[in-house]
Amino acid sequence: MKKFLEVYDLAKKYPVKGEKNKYITIFENVTFSMQKGEFVCIIGHSGCGKSTILNNLAGLDAPTSGNIIMDNKNVKKPSLERGVIFQNHSLLPWLSVLKNIKMAIACKFKDLDKEGIEKRALHFLEMVELTDAVNKLPHELSGGMKQRVGIARAFALSPELLLMDEPFGALDALTRGKIQDKLVEICDKTKQTIFMITHDIDEAILLADRILLMSNGPEARVVESVEINIPKPRNRAEIVKHQNYYRIRNYLVDFLVNKSSKIAKDIQNKNIDDSRMPYTISFPNDENTEKLAI
Ligand SMILES: Nc1ncnc2c1ncn2[C@@H]1O[C@H](COP(=O)(O)OP(=O)(O)O)[C@@H](O)[C@H]1O
Ligand SMILES: [Mg+2]
Repeated sequence: MKKFLEVYDLAKKYPVKGEKNKYITIFENVTFSMQKGEFVCIIGHSGCGKSTILNNLAGLDAPTSGNIIMDNKNVKKPSLERGVIFQNHSLLPWLSVLKNIKMAIACKFKDLDKEGIEKRALHFLEMVELTDAVNKLPHELSGGMKQRVGIARAFALSPELLLMDEPFGALDALTRGKIQDKLVEICDKTKQTIFMITHDIDEAILLADRILLMSNGPEARVVESVEINIPKPRNRAEIVKHQNYYRIRNYLVDFLVNKSSKIAKDIQNKNIDDSRMPYTISFPNDENTEKLAI
């Protein structure tokens, strides 16, 4: 299949304060690609550079070296084709929920008339079950509702690529669960291409086609790309029964607890060949196990 997004040899370095010509490498040799319609999550310990990679993809921040190519074009600056959802919603506080979304739609779809804009805004607000809150101001909403408005706004713009930086990190577990379920539903309908940072392994397995795993910083790498071979759309109560669920979950936990720091040490000691990273890890469905289970 044709690659939609290609990231080659990305590196980010910062000058060390007070030391001339000395740099700290946050990450380097980061190479991966995404297909249209894919949902890719990235997981790694705090400080390894996930947000920096996402900001590079958004065009909000430039890498020190390397290339990002989306739809055969170099990513150099922000564009409405790349939507971003951060942890804290970024709604305009003086505009109602509906007006927040209408304004965004009007910026992107210049040919739509007033009616068309309103119809599109209401369609996406309905999708996140916020029809009753359309005239409220952001401060009148709960954290979960605000984040749902953010999601509605991002999907209403149908960007070529949607980037999400720990979008549900600030929400309580119950609200987070509900929004994740909504996201499963919306992604199933829209087939939106998504790159998402999360620290929640279960969230990543519920949502992603693939999970990129990073080693610890500094000098972090995208080490592995784990394929989530569980049919979509997924349901949190059902996926845990899938034969691959705990295999994948245990694998991810082991990577984060043991492997990510060991690889970081090996990289610092130049004890590892990173030229073929990320390695693809897949968990094929084992027919015999399935037969046994029946
Ligand atoms: N302006 C800066 N100067 C130096 N180091 C920075 C700067 N901005 C970010 N960093 C460092 O880059 C690293 C990666 O940050 P970030 O991308 O936010 O990590 P993550 O999202 O994985 O937690 C962190 O260790 C952070 O301290
Ligand atoms: Mg971050």
